[in-house]
Amino acid sequence: MSPFELLERDGLARIGRLDTPHGPIETPALLPVAHPDPARQPIPPVEMRRRFGVHAVITSAYITWRTPPLRAVAEERGIHGLLQFDGPVMTDSGAFQQHAYGAVEIGPEESLRFQDRVGSDIATVLDVFTEPDATHEEAAEALRETRSRSEAARRSRAGLLAVPVQGGAFEDLRAESAAAASALGDVLAVGGVVPLLEQYRFPELARALAAARPGLSPAAPVHLFGAGHPMTFASAALWGVDLFDSSAYHKFARRGGLLFPEGTVSIDDLREPVCRCALCAVRPLTDVARLPEADRERAIAEHNLLMSVEEIGRVRQAIRDGTLWELAERRSVAHPALRAGLEETLRHPGPFLATEPASRPSFREILPESRRRPAVVRFRNALDRFARERPLSDTIGRVALRPEYLGRIPCEDRSGRPLAWDAETPLGPVPLELSDLYPVGPFLGLEEFAHRARHRPPSSVTDELRGRPALDADLDRDWTDGWTRRQILALLTWEYGPDVANELARDLVGVRSRTSGRLRRIRRQDATLFHVGTDGLARPTFRGAGDVRAALSEDRGRVVVMDDAREFVAQGRSLFARFVAAADPALRPGSSALLVDRSDELLGVGRLVLAPHEMRRMGRGVAARVVAHARAPDAAEDADPEE
Ligand code: GUN
Ligand code: ZN
Repeated sequence: MSPFELLERDGLARIGRLDTPHGPIETPALLPVAHPDPARQPIPPVEMRRRFGVHAVITSAYITWRTPPLRAVAEERGIHGLLQFDGPVMTDSGAFQQHAYGAVEIGPEESLRFQDRVGSDIATVLDVFTEPDATHEEAAEALRETRSRSEAARRSRAGLLAVPVQGGAFEDLRAESAAAASALGDVLAVGGVVPLLEQYRFPELARALAAARPGLSPAAPVHLFGAGHPMTFASAALWGVDLFDSSAYHKFARRGGLLFPEGTVSIDDLREPVCRCALCAVRPLTDVARLPEADRERAIAEHNLLMSVEEIGRVRQAIRDGTLWELAERRSVAHPALRAGLEETLRHPGPFLATEPASRPSFREILPESRRRPAVVRFRNALDRFARERPLSDTIGRVALRPEYLGRIPCEDRSGRPLAWDAETPLGPVPLELSDLYPVGPFLGLEEFAHRARHRPPSSVTDELRGRPALDADLDRDWTDGWTRRQILALLTWEYGPDVANELARDLVGVRSRTSGRLRRIRRQDATLFHVGTDGLARPTFRGAGDVRAALSEDRGRVVVMDDAREFVAQGRSLFARFVAAADPALRPGSSALLVDRSDELLGVGRLVLAPHEMRRMGRGVAARVVAHARAPDAAEDADPEE
């Protein structure tokens, strides 16, 4: 069974769990580098766990092997004995020393045998470190060697194996390496990037990740070798990096470098109490600066580790909240190089789109770049499709996006011809009937606050429309019901296409919130068929899903459940990935899906956790949470308190 399980996610980023012989690693996780020589390790691993909440570390098998006294202890008492740590220990093979010193004297078989012998929880293949400035020929040759070593390593290693992804600056090689590693590795370790991190070449890092990403298996955690500065964590996590390792906390400490998520500060320049973290509250950094060399280094390393661990915590919380893009954008202002990296990331929306969620609870504008997030790219693509299907004449005007204006805007002219209107939104014009949808509906941006004056009384909208001589429509009646009908049709078209929408929308009525005026439910007679959430999406109840199933052709909108799990799903238990027989590839995380059995009987309505292409590849974990089911079909129909 796969050792990795995905628990929560925000796009490519995920909260997961990697099981190891010494316990699980909750990801994203920072694996601080622990020097195998206790005399050279400023914070013992047990202390990292006790005081900093670090649960796993990485150490160099190569340094251990080539240092006879360390090797003797490791061979006798294991790597855990050497580090005096009984949590998960990942070992690295020596490729980094090859980068730093040009060569290593250990061979790939010996490296792996040694890692096995000392009981490493995650052993790493001795890859060939490819410099970012290597030629294509050099990178390809090195990659061939890394691949054959990885294949041999997989044959000989029963335990967890980290397989490096190399390929230098070449997209084709990164992609090939990612796919090859995915076939072999329990951990997919993106390597050869230390020079990019050290030299702040973040756009090149983004390009390497963009090239590797599509080939990386969703079923294995992704490790980024050498990413240890907390200002990089959020942007790397965006790409789905689950494991970070670095000696940065210690390396910077030697030179008096204080790590913060907002950048690096030299302790020699500090005169003010800029930090009040748990450590600095007891001993201010200005006092640390005056400590003797060794004590100072240790104190700064502790501070740096704390900052790093806290930032991992913020990344994890942001994934749970669906706000990782916001965190990454906020962090990107730490340094123009990070901002350039974000810019490069935005040029590669492709790898994000397959796991881009159907919606998030909110959309907060942080930078001008916020308007180019994958969520916006996907919304625009879907709008283009909708425009082709929209059964209306040309748009005749634009109106500000305020629910209270809706009733003032005629949706037909005097001859009964439908009038199309666009809402003016921060993301550009959007058909009025779709303007509650994520990301435009929940969009919270500058305009909201900068142009308060634009919020006019609803009557002024009528006055303005009266000034349009070409508009031959009744401006004295309340058009809310017309808009409700059109919105129902539009939301169902958005989800299911125009044919199904037309069939479903017959005799449906909408219920609007009394406070906000927004459409909240779609009903037929006494039954609620769809709920409309703050993301503006129409999500079916069990009754609604029954109607959708009847209208929607056989393969669409569905996740087909294997017989073994049929009863569980019908009773509302989560659907696990291994019980998925098939899934409509157009669904995505956060989508509402029809959960059906093999004879297309409806078992429940699911909210997807995994994208369809992931369901086939993940051996473990929840594929969909069941939100309404056959045994309690009305459970989700509780009255909406806002109506
Ligand atoms: N540490 C930093 N970079 C690398 C790399 O590319 N490969 C390995 N094995 N370790 C590393
Ligand atoms: Zn501090």
